[in-house]
Amino acid sequence: MSSTGSYKARQFNLSGLKGISDQTLEMHFKLYEGYVKETNNLTEKISAFIGDAKVDQEEMPAYSELTRRLGFEYNGMVLHEYYFDNLQSGGGIGDPSKTSEFMNAATASFGSYDVWKADFVGIGKMRGVGWAICYQNPANGRLSNHWITLHETGNVAGFTPILVMDVWEHAFLLDYKPAERPKYIEAFFTNIAWDAVEERLKKGKGVQTARA
Ligand SMILES: [Fe+2]
Repeated sequence: MSSTGSYKARQFNLSGLKGISDQTLEMHFKLYEGYVKETNNLTEKISAFIGDAKVDQEEMPAYSELTRRLGFEYNGMVLHEYYFDNLQSGGGIGDPSKTSEFMNAATASFGSYDVWKADFVGIGKMRGVGWAICYQNPANGRLSNHWITLHETGNVAGFTPILVMDVWEHAFLLDYKPAERPKYIEAFFTNIAWDAVEERLKKGKGVQTARA
């Protein structure tokens, strides 16, 4: 492996969520570990190609394929960490407190928390395989919600993930039918660790008046 070292899968204690079973989480942790492993594998294989400080023409097809897969595996690893980190063992409080930074940011960016939530939930219900992510633009504090296809298509460079919701079917299939994604989204909201969300906002530049 390269001198930067390999990634280690993190451990998460999320037992007792409401509406998302421990069985689902155990399976989900295993999938996450797979992304960590593949991120390391790809990095190692690519390191082997570039060890001689050049990419030979005949190596180009294999090198390209491995490199193209990096975005999928890396984002698969990192987004799952954001997702597990914004869930709270034992279940959360539902909506954030009225005086929270998040409430201020959502109101400044969308007019109200309810409008922000309608957008975020709407994205979560979109057909396809992916994620709903609320990002903050560190340049002006503004929040915006985005649909991410697979793990890597639709992320905004430089924006900070504030709230990350996995809507791949594996996130809920043991607990709900495929068509019951709205029920899973409802369950997700009851388990949000709003303290973790607040921390992410505070690590950014803070909430400023949203501007175009
Ligand atoms: Fe997932």
